[in-house]
Amino acid sequence: MLTTKEAIEKRRSIRKFKPDVIPEKHIEALLEAARLAPSGCNAQPWRFKVVRDPETKQQLADAAYQQKFIESAPVVIVCCADIQGYLDGTVSGTQDLGKIGALEDRIVKILQKRTNDIKTINVEQMAPKISFNVAIAIEHMVLRALDFDLGTCWVRLLDEKKISDIFGWGNNIYVTALLPVGYPAETPAPRKRKPLQDLLIS
Ligand SMILES: Cc1cc2nc3c(=O)[nH]c(=O)nc-3n(C[C@H](O)[C@H](O)[C@H](O)COP(=O)(O)O)c2cc1C
Repeated sequence: MLTTKEAIEKRRSIRKFKPDVIPEKHIEALLEAARLAPSGCNAQPWRFKVVRDPETKQQLADAAYQQKFIESAPVVIVCCADIQGYLDGTVSGTQDLGKIGALEDRIVKILQKRTNDIKTINVEQMAPKISFNVAIAIEHMVLRALDFDLGTCWVRLLDEKKISDIFGWGNNIYVTALLPVGYPAETPAPRKRKPLQDLLIS
């Protein structure tokens, strides 16, 4: 088993996959890693669709601007934000956190007021914010995949509407990213990173 440091250093975006079948328990372990991610107000707005069917994978690749490598992955996890689920989860999550004393009453009130003030759902405004939470869950899966020698690649260059239409989802489900998963058929060298001093704001 890798340490967290080793996983962070070893991870690469993988865009070539072997066709080998992934044991179901490994996909379940990835989803479990996502489930345990932190989220604002513990709202847990992430939702996942696990796709194995070649025809649907092909449609996903097409909806991701023809990024054909996506369909070569044995599994593609469609990672979504549930907008209404976020609002509902915020209310119940905030109450729970207040009850156990993790949040001050004052903060609970501010969070609940903010949620109550949302009268109509504006997907375009809300989806990016809610997707922060989904992104954390996705990265949990990305890192956990390394425990099973699985490779992944974040895919955000996509047409959300086209993907929603494949599954007949309504406005409430916002597609945050695709995560193709499979055994790597390539071993990429580390990609360039900026030196730390370039990241620090003086
Ligand atoms: C939010 C996000 C969106 C990305 N979208 C795509 C994508 O649509 N297609 C793709 O091939 N790679 C995509 N990537 C992968 C990046 O290109 C990759 O992380 C970056 O080049 C660094 O390489 P590394 O992941 O191997 O370290 C995405 C990564 C992130 C975090």
